[in-house]
Amino acid sequence: MAQSIKVFAPATIANLSVGFDVLGLALNSIGDIIELKTNGSTKNCIKEIVDGVNIPRQLDKNCCSVVIECMQNALNNYTGVDIYIQKGFESGSGLGSSSASSAAAAYAFNQLVGEPFSKHALIAFAAEGERIACGTAHADNVAPALCGGLVLLQMRTPIHCIQLPIPKSLHVVVLFPRVEVSTAQSRGVLPSSISIEKAVAQWSNLGSFIASLYQGDFDLMQQSLHDRVAEPYRAQFIPHFDELKQQAMQANAIGFGISGSGPSVFALARNQKDAHTIQHSMQSVFTNSNIDYLCLVESLHQKTGCRIIQ
Ligand code: HSE
Repeated sequence: MAQSIKVFAPATIANLSVGFDVLGLALNSIGDIIELKTNGSTKNCIKEIVDGVNIPRQLDKNCCSVVIECMQNALNNYTGVDIYIQKGFESGSGLGSSSASSAAAAYAFNQLVGEPFSKHALIAFAAEGERIACGTAHADNVAPALCGGLVLLQMRTPIHCIQLPIPKSLHVVVLFPRVEVSTAQSRGVLPSSISIEKAVAQWSNLGSFIASLYQGDFDLMQQSLHDRVAEPYRAQFIPHFDELKQQAMQANAIGFGISGSGPSVFALARNQKDAHTIQHSMQSVFTNSNIDYLCLVESLHQKTGCRIIQ
């Protein structure tokens, strides 16, 4: 058995406007790194947290240690580990910060103990990290963080993760305005039920978005990417939301929406050139603002997800 392992798990965009709690997309350039070292005991210990302001050190409150303990209980294997956490981006960003840590911890522990679980089986464990971090065990960030790419969750027990095709030239622009919005707060403003009229519109759009991926049809994708469920309630937490959306759409974005629970937003672009134009247009909104932000462009045509690093 290996004595130590280091794993990277990426940031993710959940919901993608039409798939609240069931769609998620893995990014590639930013994410968390979790290192586990067996410590010869049956206890886990959080040894180090780098760049993680407000990340709890208590074993029962930290998403990494909670995920590992769930796996130890399921396996009845109490191989104690020292946990080293290196955060790659802020929590409360809407880019799946707790999920990146939870997914990396699940993937790393699984590798360390001889891979008893498939990647898909790890989703349920990693989702327990989400429960600790924000109160619900939604899996639309941990699933893409683990499996990579764009995934649809079929809500059965255990959750089934379906990998969706990504048209070759599709790019994403992500803008994270550096204000913190907690997932719990952002879920708290949502109504507990929606009208049948809204539900019909939303599932029609989810279906046609998925068809657009299979058909590589960006016009159909553009007609589909409208969020009737979360955006109307959450946009208020995002600085300059309406302006950002207007700028992105005027710059030929396929769609624009809130990344997960916000405050990050995303735009989908037909190709790299459009993506950079959209990026500049979105950044221009912050020219005279004192809000700091991070804005990046990524091609989606690459294999992403958890991976072992040196
Ligand atoms: N689907 C979750 C939500 C994602 O929108 O609350 C949180 O990142």
